[in-house]
Order: sequence, then structure tokens, then C-alpha cells
Amino acid sequence: MFSSTATALALSLALSLGAPCSSALAAAQASSVFFDVAIDGEPAGRLLVDLLGRGSAADSSDASPSSSSSSSVLAPVGVARFAELAEDRDGVGYVRSKIDGIEKDRVIRSSGVASLAYSDGSPSRIPGGDTVEDLDRELDAQQRANSQNPGSAPRHDRAGAVSLVVREPPGTPPPKTRLVAINGKFVTVEEPRKGAPNGTAFVVTMAPAPELDATNLVVGTLREGQELVARLSELPVSSNRTESAFFKIAKATGDRRADAAAKFFYRPFQKVVIVNSGKV
Ligand SMILES: *[C@@H]1O[C@H](CO)[C@@H](O)[C@H](O)[C@H]1NC(C)=O
Ligand SMILES: *[C@@H]1O[C@H](CO)[C@@H](O)[C@H](O)[C@H]1NC(C)=O
Repeated sequence: MFSSTATALALSLALSLGAPCSSALAAAQASSVFFDVAIDGEPAGRLLVDLLGRGSAADSSDASPSSSSSSSVLAPVGVARFAELAEDRDGVGYVRSKIDGIEKDRVIRSSGVASLAYSDGSPSRIPGGDTVEDLDRELDAQQRANSQNPGSAPRHDRAGAVSLVVREPPGTPPPKTRLVAINGKFVTVEEPRKGAPNGTAFVVTMAPAPELDATNLVVGTLREGQELVARLSELPVSSNRTESAFFKIAKATGDRRADAAAKFFYRPFQKVVIVNSGKV
């Protein structure tokens, strides 16, 4: 299916990025990934996602690799990470994770994965590792390309865009900082915020969602499974109570229960679980 040139290209790309080679290369072969979804334990169907930059339909937007100044608009680290997590090697990945956000006719959102480290205790070999730095850089590249030349990089301008959540929405207060002494010098470090995006949760759009361009790194395009997405879109979910009096007061008074409650907005009442996933 892959010519040796394509493989060599993927290889040199992975090497030139200094990505963790074994895992990046293992994932570099696939052009698509699939997710088998169950609703309350009943098989509901499959999502098939073409990966960006892998010679698949995902590249057939106005954003062709040759027209862009930089290959990082095709998010090689983000794509390799997404493929690796879909493969669920050693149980590190999307199998048994949930679809826990459903905004009707707009977007479905996965819960992300709980662990990025394999059981051998070595530092994460998942492309991008346990920080979102590489993904953040690739998101920057997509944003820069699109602001210079709209449509020259992938973006959330259609149904079926698939992207990793990398940043918090604009307007999120900056993380708390504290001073620590390192080698006798005081430096400011940011307190990691609980629940901050870690580049594992992904979304599938059901319509253009341009506001996601600010936070999400596009890594692919939904090729098959539109009916499944439409069916998920119809599931009853807990509502967004941002406008409720309780929520407004809680939020205004800094009541932490407001933030806790917000995590449950759009959560389906049924259990929507990825029961199997992998590369194609
Ligand atoms: C990543 O974030 C998701 C969503 O907040 C969370 O469920 C998951 O446990 C996190 N995983 C890691 C490895 O931090
Ligand atoms: C809920 O709706 C408000 C507008 O009413 C919006 O600003 C907010 O982002 C929504 N919450 C979530 C979690 O999407």
C-alpha cells in the first residue's frame, strides 16, 4: 500500500523532528485509524478517520502539503500521537475511554486517555510525550498559516474535522504561579491546572466550528461513520447550565462547585465507550 518513497519520507520526517523514533515510526505507517463505539454496551458502529499528511483524503482540503511553507501545518507529531493512542499499545490509548461530550449538531468530544506512560516505567514514548509543547507548536503553525492565507492549513471549517484538544479556551484565567528555589535562584513555575488539556482528548465536528481553531490541533478527517456521529448527536445529554441562576451566582462568588458542574455539561446519560480502536 505504501511505496518505499513514502516510507522514506515519513522516516526522514520523523527523524528530522527528533520524535521518539520507535513509536513515531510504528504509527507512521498508518493512513487511517478506526474507533469502534458501544452505547450502553451495545455495538453502535465504527468511526474511520483519515490521518493528515498520510496521503489520504484528509489532505484533500485546500491545504495541500506542497502549497504550505512548512510541513508542521500537517501536525506530524500530533498525527503520530493520535495514531499511537488509537493503536492502544500496552493498554495506553483510547480503548475503554469515553465519548463524554456531545453538543448536538456541533461536535462530539472524547474524554482523552488517563495514562501516557507504559507499564515499564520509562518516560512516555508517546509522540509528544506528556507535555503539549510539540502540539502547541504545531497548532501555532496551523494558526499562522491560516491567518496569512486562510485555508492554507487544516482548520475546523467543515463537518468531519478531527482534532486534539491542546489549549484552554481564550479567556481562561492564567495558571497560578509560585516561586521555587532552583540552584539558589528563585524562579517562577506555573502550577499545572487540574484538567488542563493534555493533547489526548479529541473531537469530531458535525458542522464548521471556527472557534475550535484557537484550541485544537487538526489531525484528520472523518471518512466513515457519519451516521454513527449523527446518532450520537441525538443522545440525551446533561444541559449547559451556564445561564442558570445557580450557576451564575456560584461562578460569580468563585464557588468551585461551578467549575465542577461545568465538567458535566453535554455529558450523555448513556455510556458511550470506545471498545476497540486501531490503525488501518
Ligand atoms: C488528560 O486529560 C483528560 C481530560 O481532562 C483526562 O481525563 C486524562 O486523565 C488526562 N490524562 C493524563 C495522562 O493526564
Ligand atoms: C455553555 O454556554 C455558554 C453560553 O450560554 C458558553 O459560553 C459556554 O462555553 C458553554 N459551556 C460549555 C462547557 O461549552
